[in-house]
Amino acid sequence: MSLDGFERYPLLFGPSPIHALESLSEHLGGARIWAKREDCNSGLAFGGNKTRKLEYLVPDALAQGADTLVSIGGVQSNHTRQVAAVAAKAGMKAVLVQESWVEWPDAVNDKVGNILLSRILGADVRLVQAEFGIGFKDSWQQALEDVRASGGAPYAIPAGASDHRLGGLGFANWAYEVQEQERELGVFFDTIVVCSVTGSTQAGMIAGFAGQDRPRRVLGIDASAKPAETRTQVAKIARATAELIGLGRDLHDDEITVLEGWAGGRYGIPVDSTLRAIRLTARLEGMILDPVYEGKSMAALIDLVHNGEIPRNSNVLFAQLGGQPAINAYSGLFG
Ligand SMILES: Cc1ncc(COP(=O)(O)O)c(C=O)c1O
Repeated sequence: MSLDGFERYPLLFGPSPIHALESLSEHLGGARIWAKREDCNSGLAFGGNKTRKLEYLVPDALAQGADTLVSIGGVQSNHTRQVAAVAAKAGMKAVLVQESWVEWPDAVNDKVGNILLSRILGADVRLVQAEFGIGFKDSWQQALEDVRASGGAPYAIPAGASDHRLGGLGFANWAYEVQEQERELGVFFDTIVVCSVTGSTQAGMIAGFAGQDRPRRVLGIDASAKPAETRTQVAKIARATAELIGLGRDLHDDEITVLEGWAGGRYGIPVDSTLRAIRLTARLEGMILDPVYEGKSMAALIDLVHNGEIPRNSNVLFAQLGGQPAINAYSGLFG
């Protein structure tokens, strides 16, 4: 089992840093909490989990002779911002379909944060009225056709770079990176806490860790408020990625865990526990979480330590996947 056969276009600084969250651990009075920082993984427009995934998609795009990356997300999508940065870096164009997934009453929602960055990066940003959904969308097909019609060669990247043959590889590699870092740090992370929406972050981790000797729990925390869809997508991508990297066995159902209860009623709308987790982590650790993703997965981590689901002697690795630029579109929450 290996990732050696897959070409990787370097977009990251190297392994993302891991550090202990000592004050938070002490405050929770239970497990020892660490963070692995995808928000600091790259110099490209604040990086994040998609930059890591795109390392494996860009070589495929270039091999196909594509000149334009075409992708989709919400108005404040972190993913599309990273596609814009990666396209700039790789000398390509980007067409981004930004759907109105989140009804959020912030007057500058479609002007600041991620969408602002994508505009600065030179992407062709298209605002479209449509509901949240992680599947294939008409607006995205239309954008692909538009690029072809104007003589370009598009490369299709689905929401979150997830439902794509190579989408799980970036985080399968993350699993090997963690194993290396554990050797250096002299620690074993028995529990990983990761936010899940389009699924390939957690799915890649599951496939990567499944080939390692020591079992551990990868707890996905749903932030889509459509947990059944997320679970199905994580399972599908984890199994496809495991096969792609030659795991040599089927993944068991109990290796795929997506927990619900912290998303609130809608994708993109923070709830009380999200805001408490954001404030607590900022005030104890100086680490900023966003209201759409990691605010929700941190709220889960806190509850799971409190209720003993994560035992006191556990070493927990919290995946901080980026997303802070979106916070600018939620200014009213903290005013
Ligand atoms: C900051 C952040 N955290 C977590 C996620 C969830 O990752 P995935 O979509 O691969 O499940 C995303 C993207 O959706 C994200 O932008």
